[in-house]
Amino acid sequence: MSRHFLRLSDLSVDELNSLIERAIELKRLIQDGSPHQTCANKTLAMIFELSSTRTRVAFEAGMAQLGGQSIFLSPRDTQLGRGEPIKDTARVLAKMVDIVMIRAKDQSTIDEFATYSDIPVINGMSDELHPCQLLADIMTIVEAQGEIEGQKIAFVGDGYNMCQSFIEASGIFGFHLKIATPPDYRPSTKYCAYNNVEFVESPVDAVRNSDVVVTDVWSSMGHEDEADRTKAFDGFQITSKLLDQADQSAILLHCLPAHRGEEVDESVLDDPRSLVWEESGNRLHSQKALIEFLLR
Ligand code: CP
Repeated sequence: MSRHFLRLSDLSVDELNSLIERAIELKRLIQDGSPHQTCANKTLAMIFELSSTRTRVAFEAGMAQLGGQSIFLSPRDTQLGRGEPIKDTARVLAKMVDIVMIRAKDQSTIDEFATYSDIPVINGMSDELHPCQLLADIMTIVEAQGEIEGQKIAFVGDGYNMCQSFIEASGIFGFHLKIATPPDYRPSTKYCAYNNVEFVESPVDAVRNSDVVVTDVWSSMGHEDEADRTKAFDGFQITSKLLDQADQSAILLHCLPAHRGEEVDESVLDDPRSLVWEESGNRLHSQKALIEFLLR
């Protein structure tokens, strides 16, 4: 039976920690120019209902570096866009490729796809979760801070898929998470009762003495047409001054793309405490480790 990666909890904490270790090793292999074609003759199909730069490029480049190949499938250019059911597509792809990644508007689409798939399925982001991004984020924290367990992490902004993914990760990896969101933008109630998670009133309360500060856009993909959120998120912008409230060795993460002037000011992504570029590069290494794990 195939393993899927639809949420972080599909893997045990030991498996996740090994995967992060392997991602760090794969990063070194690339830097050393050492070949590591562990997935030769394997094919990854990627379905994107929503746009992507990092996820797509990391999977395509990663699969090539592992000796395999990838196929990009947009619903616009496939029969999915003409109404072919997701469960039929899942069964067909399982006859032709070795592994599938799907980015969908609804988590239920990804869950349904996996139910009908005999091959591993990866969640490339949904309205609920972004587990591939969390692999890169945990890797970046481990590289910068030495470990993930026991870290004090602050999430400031919209309680959407990235916030919910950090909540899920807090229970698995054992870090403390303080969350500051505007009252109407808290995570789904399903994600509000985790042991390691504390909701606080203000961004300063979340960030004070933290080791890691995380934020995300105020209007995620699919929500751009909603009423202007600028007023609701007033005061939730990450600035260098806000980062000064964190621990001296704190780092800033953002999954990107960023909207300067909204959730981050014009310059904070270039602050020495910002590791967002390293974090985006780590998408490549962590997704390669994930593909290797699922194809093993
Ligand atoms: N962070 C992230 O998933 O980026 P893309 O939407 O560009 O894939």
